[in-house]
Amino acid sequence: MLVTGKELLDHANKYNYAVGAFNVNNMEIVQAIIEAAEETNSPVILQASQGGIKYAGIEYIAALGKLAARKAKVPVALHLDHGTDFDQVMLCIRHGFTSVMIDGSKYELRENINITKKVIEVAHAVGVSVEAELGKIGGTEDNVTVDEREAAFTDPDEAKLFVDETGVDYLAIAVGTAHGVYKGEPKLDFDRIKRIKELVGIPLVLHGSSGVPEDSIKKAVSLGINKINIDTDLRIAFTQAIRDYNEKNPKNIDPRKVLAPAKEAMKEVIKEKMHIFGSAGRA
Ligand code: 13P
Repeated sequence: MLVTGKELLDHANKYNYAVGAFNVNNMEIVQAIIEAAEETNSPVILQASQGGIKYAGIEYIAALGKLAARKAKVPVALHLDHGTDFDQVMLCIRHGFTSVMIDGSKYELRENINITKKVIEVAHAVGVSVEAELGKIGGTEDNVTVDEREAAFTDPDEAKLFVDETGVDYLAIAVGTAHGVYKGEPKLDFDRIKRIKELVGIPLVLHGSSGVPEDSIKKAVSLGINKINIDTDLRIAFTQAIRDYNEKNPKNIDPRKVLAPAKEAMKEVIKEKMHIFGSAGRA
């Protein structure tokens, strides 16, 4: 069933687990996520980035997401990942998304608060949940690169002010993760997660979670992370399975034969994540 992001994440916050938010770009990825969620009895978030929306078209992504959610036996939210402006957020709300992210992290604090408040006023009026970001998460997401020198960890006192002033539903924080493939092992600032959670209380979001070791993810969840974004690990599973299939079957011309193992490979990754995040069995 299609539900709001807030509904899923408030429950996760109350019972101390995290819901996976997986990036979608086509039908096979959507199906892999939903099948994994049903097989593990897990709530889940389907999220489309602006790049994903550009690739598939808003109508296709929204229709796929809503159909999948309505047919699913588990609760599913449809979320905009890293919306960078008001118009993009409005477009997604108009197409039935139940959760949106307004990423004003490139702005100064005051301007980030202002744009987040503007989005919340409209989104909340129509029952759509809102995620914002404070601090700068490093790495490359949708061709936007924040280099390591520019990435800045979230200040706990600023987070408190930000949440109090905006009334945002959940907050993405910068605590040492980065989008994309890691060069070394990521080191998370657990004290910072703990401090921010103590001050704000609302569900916290971890971006750039592919490639983060299992014990780090579990510890982050225990300290108050309730939404975990995964894109790169699915991309790797998808493309690797296609490479493997094509190497073994160079004469194949049926796209379904290539895409079926790619879907299965993603599904295995997603199921494993759902167990690590603690969302399995929570639907
Ligand atoms: P990864 O690509 O590192 O999994 O990050 C995904 C993400 O945070 C999307 O917002």
